[in-house]
Amino acid sequence: MDDMGSVTIKKEKETIAAGTVRKPPLLRFQWVQIVMHILAWVPLVQLAVDYFTGKLTINPIQAATQQLGLTAMLMVAAALAVTPLITLTGFSSLQKLSRPLGLYAFMYTTLHVLMYVGVDYGFAFDLLWLDAQGKSYMLSGLISFAILLVLAITSFRWWMKHLRKNWKRLHRLVYAAGGLAVLHYGLAVKGDLFRLQGDIVKPALYTLLLIFLFGLRIPVVRRAVINGRQKLLARRAG
Ligand code: HEM
Repeated sequence: MDDMGSVTIKKEKETIAAGTVRKPPLLRFQWVQIVMHILAWVPLVQLAVDYFTGKLTINPIQAATQQLGLTAMLMVAAALAVTPLITLTGFSSLQKLSRPLGLYAFMYTTLHVLMYVGVDYGFAFDLLWLDAQGKSYMLSGLISFAILLVLAITSFRWWMKHLRKNWKRLHRLVYAAGGLAVLHYGLAVKGDLFRLQGDIVKPALYTLLLIFLFGLRIPVVRRAVINGRQKLLARRAG
C-alpha cells in the first residue's frame, strides 16, 4: 500500500475514534436534500391529480382537508425526527433538512387550514365560530397552527441572530406543536379519546413516535446513545 493510502486510513481511524464520522458521499453531494424536496411535493401533486381525475370522493373539500392534514402531521413528525436521527446515526449533515421540513410542515398546515376556513367556509368567521363550538379538536389545531406560524416566521437567520439563546428555547416549542397536532388528529378522527371507537390506531402510533423522538432528546438518553455509538465505531475501527 502506498504512503498516501496508509495516511488516509490512519486519518479515517482517528476520525472514527473521535466519534466524528466522515460524511458518506450521499450526504456530501446533497442528494438527500434533493430527494427530500421532491418527496415533500409529492402529496400536493397527488392531491391535484386526484382532484382533476375526480378521485376525491363525493365530498372533495373534506377529502382534501383530510389529506392535507395528514401530510402536515407527517411533515411535523419528519421535522421532529431530524435531531434524534443525528443522535442515532452521527450524520450531522442531516441538520440541513430541519428548516425545510419545518417549513413544509407549516406550508401543508396552512393549506389544510385554508381548505377548511377559505374553501369550505368562504372565510365566514361567524359560521366558523358556531361550528367550532361543537368540535373539541379545533382548539388544539388552532394552537398548534399558531406555534408553527411563529416558528416559520422566526426561522430566518435575522431572527436567529437577534434572539440568540432564546431562539433555541422558542424553537423547542415544535414539540408542543407536534403534541397538540397529534391531539387534534386523535380528536378529529375519533371525537372522544376515552371511548374505544373510531380510528385511533394511526394517532396512537404518532403519539408513540413523538414520545420516542422526545425521549432521544433528553440529555441523559442522548449522551448514552452517542457514547454507545462511538464505542461501537471505535471497536469496528480498531
Ligand atoms: C387552525 C388550525 C386548524 C384547523 C381549523 C383544522 C381543521 C381541521 C378539520 C375541520 C378537520 C376535520 C376534517 C374532516 O374530517 O372533516 C381536521 C382534521 C385533521 N387535521 Fe386539522 N386543523 C387545524 C390544524 C391542524 C394542524 C396544525 C395539523 C397538523 C400539523 C392538523 C392535522 C389534521 C389531521 C391529521 C386531521 C385528520 C385527518 C383525517 O380525518 O384523516 N390540523 N382539521
